Amino acid sequence: MIYPVTVFGDPVLRKKAVPITEDFKDLKGFIENMFETMYTSDGVGLAAPQVGQSVRIFVLDTTTDEEDEPAGIKRAFINPEIVEKYGDEWSMNEGCLSVPEIREDVLRPESVVLKYHDENLVEHEETFNGFTARVIQHEYDHLEGIMFVDYLNPLKKRILKSKLLAISKGKVIPKYRIKIPGK
Ligand code: NI
Repeated sequence: MIYPVTVFGDPVLRKKAVPITEDFKDLKGFIENMFETMYTSDGVGLAAPQVGQSVRIFVLDTTTDEEDEPAGIKRAFINPEIVEKYGDEWSMNEGCLSVPEIREDVLRPESVVLKYHDENLVEHEETFNGFTARVIQHEYDHLEGIMFVDYLNPLKKRILKSKLLAISKGKVIPKYRIKIPGK
């Protein structure tokens, strides 16, 4: 099942998401649908608030570029916690399914140590680097109510203001299905 994607202006994207508990209904089905929604929208990562659920899950698939060093992963992260971020900050032009048609350079540290549960609720602690570490940081931000445009300098934010307003009013229609805020 493909979910509509929430976009900039939707309050669910600004909430701190709550941990998943054992009584969460059909966790595996939810994860499967998140992957399906992500692939349909050509995303590399998707967090639960982006499908309207304020819970701490995100999925990602960074295996698309075979040249990538280190190699990418496909995985669901449940109740993730960032233990540490380290390494040099590097810049990359980021986009977000919840902010269609906007891409901007964002600085993030090279590595992240993450504690999380997999879809069988087994706990892991693992270090990720490079592009995968970047996507993890971007998706983790969604669980904290943070969006990549928050990192832009005041001038960039001012330039983007009308575009962001247009998104929040449903005037920007991407190729995938979105949920217009307040509708
Ligand atoms: Ni995003």
